[in-house]
Amino acid sequence: MPHKDEFDLENVDGIGPKTAQMLQSKGIISARHLALFTPEELVDITDMTPDRAEKILRSARELVFGSRRALKGTELLKLSQDVPRLTTGVKSIDKLLGGGLEPKATYEFAGEFGTGKTQLCHQLAVTVQLPREKGGVGGACAYIDTEEAFSPSRIEAIAKRFGLDPQQALDNIYVIKVVNAADLEDRIKFDLVRLVEQNNVKLVIIDSIIALYRAEFKGRERLAERQQRLNYILDWLMRVAKVYGIYIVLTNQVIDVPLGYIEVKKPAGGNVLAHAVTHRLFLKKSREDLRVMEVLDSPRLPFKASAMFRITDKGVEDA
Ligand code: GTP
Ligand code: MG
Repeated sequence: MPHKDEFDLENVDGIGPKTAQMLQSKGIISARHLALFTPEELVDITDMTPDRAEKILRSARELVFGSRRALKGTELLKLSQDVPRLTTGVKSIDKLLGGGLEPKATYEFAGEFGTGKTQLCHQLAVTVQLPREKGGVGGACAYIDTEEAFSPSRIEAIAKRFGLDPQQALDNIYVIKVVNAADLEDRIKFDLVRLVEQNNVKLVIIDSIIALYRAEFKGRERLAERQQRLNYILDWLMRVAKVYGIYIVLTNQVIDVPLGYIEVKKPAGGNVLAHAVTHRLFLKKSREDLRVMEVLDSPRLPFKASAMFRITDKGVEDA
């Protein structure tokens, strides 16, 4: 029996033991989890009336966020200064990102094959576990692997470099396999939240976000549907990130876009992805094992600023 806490479902006004049990049987584990849902979504998975769904969701939000929802600018500034930055383990990249990754934001690493997206994800799955004084946040990682690219031996090598026990590092990474877009939605709405609440997951990685959607929604006639589904999943990720203060990293493939007589490479996923991610970073190959990361779009990072790094046997390192 899990111990009682302030965010138990039964602490929500209007939820008794029976409703709590019903919600749990649908996979909703707490008031915080419940507060992420919309009335439509709740009606969809339970047999509640829209009125009742709306009422208990309002109570859930009140319990979770309190009744005072407006913050002064000074309070916001204080809060933003208090958030721990997550190190990538690469000084030049941390500097480019303003001191590491910030929580409650989405980072996209886009680039051609072999530019280091998956390597960087592996490294972050390790650095998130480091203690605060070493730039980590002492958390676990949920790694959503849509390309079968997760490599335990790479994690072991990177963990050793950062002074962590390789077995323990692997134990703190929850690798989630998904088969299609609907499966990904379920994994994020239910499994991810459980991992965050019960297994100390602080970082969620999706490597890669677009692969599934590209394979599943083929052709122009399904493009609108694809974009809608993509938008929905990104929206859910942000809901989870905002409520729990976790870090989000997505990788993305690139497409060739004609520009006059030449073709330029752009991240896939169109406007939906462009709007949904907070910080867009573009990875490029330089000579040999050297790579460049460049800021493509960000509300806070300087446009076109860049950092050099290299991929070695120990992971991703400064150039
Ligand atoms: P796609 O997923 O194909 O789009 O590429 P990606 O951007 O995810 O590439 P990834 O991060 O997998 O980087 C691949 C690069 O890392 C290749 O150049 C590999 O040679 C290099 N790499 C992978 N593992 C090792 C390793 O153990 N040692 C060294 N030195 N390099 C490695
Ligand atoms: Mg990859």
